[in-house]
Amino acid sequence: MWGSQRAAAVPGSVFALMDAAKGRARAAGLDIIDLSIGSSDLPPPEPVLEVLRAATRDAETYRYPLFSDTAPLREAAAGYLARRFGVQLDPQREVLPLIGAQEGLAHLLLAVTDPGDTLLLPDPCYPPYLGAAAVAGLKVVTVPLRPEAGFLPDLDAVPEGVRPRVLLLNYPNNPTSAVADAAFFWRAAAWCGARGTLLVHDHPYAELTFGAYRAPSALEAGVDGVVELHSLSKTHHMGGFRVGFAAGDAGALAALSRVKGAIDFHAYLGIQRAAAHALSLPDEVGRVGAAVFEQRRDALVPALRALGWEVALPQASMYAWARVPGVTDSVAFAVRAAETTGVAVSPGAAFGAGGEGFVRFALVQPPEVLRGAARQLGTVPTA
Ligand SMILES: Cc1ncc(COP(=O)(O)O)c(C=O)c1O
Repeated sequence: MWGSQRAAAVPGSVFALMDAAKGRARAAGLDIIDLSIGSSDLPPPEPVLEVLRAATRDAETYRYPLFSDTAPLREAAAGYLARRFGVQLDPQREVLPLIGAQEGLAHLLLAVTDPGDTLLLPDPCYPPYLGAAAVAGLKVVTVPLRPEAGFLPDLDAVPEGVRPRVLLLNYPNNPTSAVADAAFFWRAAAWCGARGTLLVHDHPYAELTFGAYRAPSALEAGVDGVVELHSLSKTHHMGGFRVGFAAGDAGALAALSRVKGAIDFHAYLGIQRAAAHALSLPDEVGRVGAAVFEQRRDALVPALRALGWEVALPQASMYAWARVPGVTDSVAFAVRAAETTGVAVSPGAAFGAGGEGFVRFALVQPPEVLRGAARQLGTVPTA
């Protein structure tokens, strides 16, 4: 009765369906192997936890944090971007702490668009993008991510008349685990420049990369007209801490800061200190976590291919994205799989119509569990 049209416009989630299916499997006595949620199962680096513990004993951290209190985290974030991507930013105007990339994106859309503006989104995409678009009252136009194009959008195929206010990209990508090179971001930034579009790059998997591969930053293509969202959730296994930062276009960040000023008071200072410390740790610390996901990838992908499933070997992210031959209703397949085997995966259709026929695995279990899960999924009828 009290729900607004805005609230009603936020799409429901198929994850509630999956939750119910897991509940039925549990009630039937099955052990649940939950590969449906991309929350890192690894602990944050111990020195980061130590900084947080110490902060809780410092009464200075108990009050509301003001913008000036965010300086150490802004400076650490700018230092990380300079060290890692060679991007020089003004920590005062071009970096803004977030309570996670998801919060940042929803508020950024409110800050840089007006109701009825167009948002260009990839299909498939991370589902909260659609919710954030609905909250901001945006018209969503999608551009497909196709396997034959390496799950990169063909921006030149977007009709000339489509002049989005924002183009939202995400590489390493959730759900497809595809990666993009720096040249792709240069092309995307040029395309956005020509259409009067803000390029927003959601980059939570920046350091979850495998082998010699290192992900570029969209900010390498320019800072004006580009905003990049970073998160400590995956790179430092701090999902529950809710901390990240936005970097890039000073005008867009000023607008975001204004909107956030009406809504939040920045993260707890202790969490800001922990995040600043995490961002200044040597690269090797992050590589340890990434190597764990790489080993899991190496266990799961061959096991899925042995079933005849089509899956590219991810170079980054914490997912594997597999096309299941014969599956035309991925939601029904994922529900059936959970109910009959206890193995929960995300149905591809949960990420948009372009995800139909696929399922997404989050690599959040040890290699032997992933191999066992693949074997069990091979017994599930595809239709
Ligand atoms: C593409 C993408 N963006 C954002 C997030 C959420 O990031 P945060 O925890 O910083 O809000 C996720 C989490 O799965 C994600 O996959």
